[in-house]
Amino acid sequence: MAEIARTRHGSSAGQPLTRRDGVLKVTGQARYAADNHPPGMLHAVLAISRIARGRVTFLDVEAARAHPGVVEVMTPANRPSLAQDPDDKSVPFSFCLDLLQTDRVRYAGQPIAVVIAETLEAATEGAALLAPRYEAEPVRVSLDGEDAFVPPAVGVGAPAEMWHGDVEAGLAAAVWRIEAIYETPPQFHNAMEPHGIVAAWDGDQLSLDMPTQGLAITQMRLAALFGIRTEDIHIRSPFIGGGFGSKLLTGPQVLGVLAARLVGRPVKLVLRREQMYGPVSHRAPTRQRLRLGATQDGALMAIHHHVRTATSRFDEFFEPSAGVTHTLYAAPAIATTNEAVRLDMGTPGFMRAPGEASGSIALESAIDEMAAACGMDPLEFRLRNYAEVEPVSGKPFSSKALRECYAEGAARFGWAGRPLAPRQMRDENGLLVGWGLGTATFPALMFQGQARAVLRRDGTGLVEAGAHDMGQGAWTALAQIAADSLGLDPERLEFRAGTSDLPDAGIAGGSAHTATAGSAIQAAGEQAIARLTELAVADPRSPLFGAGNIGVVARGGRLVRWDDENRGEAFADILARAGLAEVEGRGSAAADPLLAERYAMHAHGAVFAEVKVDPDLGQIRTTRLVGAFAAGRIINPRLVRSQYYGGMIWGVSFALHERAVLDPRTGRVMNADLAEYHVPVNADVPSLEAILVEEEDLHVNTLGIKGVGEIGITGTAGAIANAVWHATGIRTRHFPIAIEHLIHEAEASRQAG
Ligand code: MOS
Repeated sequence: MAEIARTRHGSSAGQPLTRRDGVLKVTGQARYAADNHPPGMLHAVLAISRIARGRVTFLDVEAARAHPGVVEVMTPANRPSLAQDPDDKSVPFSFCLDLLQTDRVRYAGQPIAVVIAETLEAATEGAALLAPRYEAEPVRVSLDGEDAFVPPAVGVGAPAEMWHGDVEAGLAAAVWRIEAIYETPPQFHNAMEPHGIVAAWDGDQLSLDMPTQGLAITQMRLAALFGIRTEDIHIRSPFIGGGFGSKLLTGPQVLGVLAARLVGRPVKLVLRREQMYGPVSHRAPTRQRLRLGATQDGALMAIHHHVRTATSRFDEFFEPSAGVTHTLYAAPAIATTNEAVRLDMGTPGFMRAPGEASGSIALESAIDEMAAACGMDPLEFRLRNYAEVEPVSGKPFSSKALRECYAEGAARFGWAGRPLAPRQMRDENGLLVGWGLGTATFPALMFQGQARAVLRRDGTGLVEAGAHDMGQGAWTALAQIAADSLGLDPERLEFRAGTSDLPDAGIAGGSAHTATAGSAIQAAGEQAIARLTELAVADPRSPLFGAGNIGVVARGGRLVRWDDENRGEAFADILARAGLAEVEGRGSAAADPLLAERYAMHAHGAVFAEVKVDPDLGQIRTTRLVGAFAAGRIINPRLVRSQYYGGMIWGVSFALHERAVLDPRTGRVMNADLAEYHVPVNADVPSLEAILVEEEDLHVNTLGIKGVGEIGITGTAGAIANAVWHATGIRTRHFPIAIEHLIHEAEASRQAG
């Protein structure tokens, strides 16, 4: 009965379906890249640099090669030649690569050799025998220094300086002013599945099993590097154990491809956890200065958000942390400025909500400080400065249900009972309790994508899209869109994704994958249905004869008249009468530049946090998080909640746990493993609630989807920091917040007052 009801209503989108790949995963049948072992396969292991800058002067290649089981050692001396310089970035989405082109070292953890052996153990032991010697040069891994420069652009082409209105005049005229500096640490990618590859050459044909968030862009980069055709590169990436941006770019896995070429056999290369802390990009550290001014009654007059960040010495990526300030709060004068320094580290890059995550911590903390300065409740202050149009651009929002997010989140959390002053609440054990709020935001983006849809005479459908499931649920959500576009029950739909031989459905990044691949799928399905409709309405034997294109809809495997669902016929009958095995549709999607000119398009949310702080020991725990998010149309509420939870947990990590510690003498990451690089474990994760606030967006794309992958991390860490202040009266501006910060701040304010 449920089945019938569902097809009658004609929509699987909006339903909380469980993952189509769920059983495969929990039974261990889902095959990840490193699960593949083609016949004759060898194992490759990286040797990485222990210095951050200088030269490798010696590698004991003879000792490694003499080790039993070792087949070959790849170094700059014998590495197969490439058709393109690894530092050539002419292919879109390229970063400079370290592929053993020279003996130069430009960051700690850089690959300096690859040992290839019959077994993983032999390759690992061989790599240890290389015993490299170096000529080390002085390094710099800190944001301190006098040589900052203004980057040419931040993020993906955003201007580094933006002045709107007279900020200095606004600050000078303000009654309330705050100025504060917030620091966020470098963070390294730690997806559960490290980067890996199984590479096999057959002449100029290259076969790869590798996790990627961008099948087509990976093909393009590899084609350029190896001087072969994109269509000769076959990538299988059906399951990805987390990406978060680190698997968008072609990275050190290329060394596995080179190794396979060198030895003429298939090769598997999987990075060890420690090796994730160098060549696969990271979130750059930031030091952000916020200056805010407000009127007596709490109206913002000016905001200046200045960011100092870092990039590598040899490449360009600039964390766009101030972008959130263009969007979130109304003020007559807003400026965002950026500067950067060059560090002896790998090039930073995309890491879940790159820019928005770090930037919203500073902005949301500063807004909280300003609210306190004005003597206002932080929610009331945010509503007082609510942006009805996008402040800097002046554009209307395509939709914006942030007010509803505040209201629904506050009601659920119980915000109304919050005392204004800090250090007012204790729990039954005497722990200090604090409540904080952070606003979440992330742009609604679209990339280019294509898809193919087929209706078959047996009443089933097929949709093909080279889409990527990183664990977010693309196998399920995109199949729901596909099923609806073809008027089929999801169980009657075969969905193919995750391989490079399918139509390129666009990168899985920027929280835009469901919107992009989904829109392409929708268009492909519509075209298949339109073709079927043409067959039916032109055929006098069909009950739909003469109904015309507009008058027909696809439901439950049938075409029916729009005005009378009882008059119609099954897809299978139409195809059979026409003597066709199937009809096909193709679709594509892309961002519409006219839309972006007309509207500001963003998802929004509000995150409410409760923390408890031990007044004697300074121990902090997040005990409760309520996030309310509005992100347009929701295809699968179960999966979307899961995305929000994941983002919010990363917010907890940002606030309280996660940071890479670099040794200023050697430039090495001192905590390059999951024992010392802290991420939340189950015991650190509080009670989580994610409220899906209703929002209809008629502009953003045909499906009305804004994307949900990244917004959960924005807002959350700021909310937690604000809750820590509310619990203790101590304002912490260094992240992650540590016990010693609380103690130092408490000590400092005791001495001052
Ligand atoms: Mo995301 S950082 O675009 O995977």
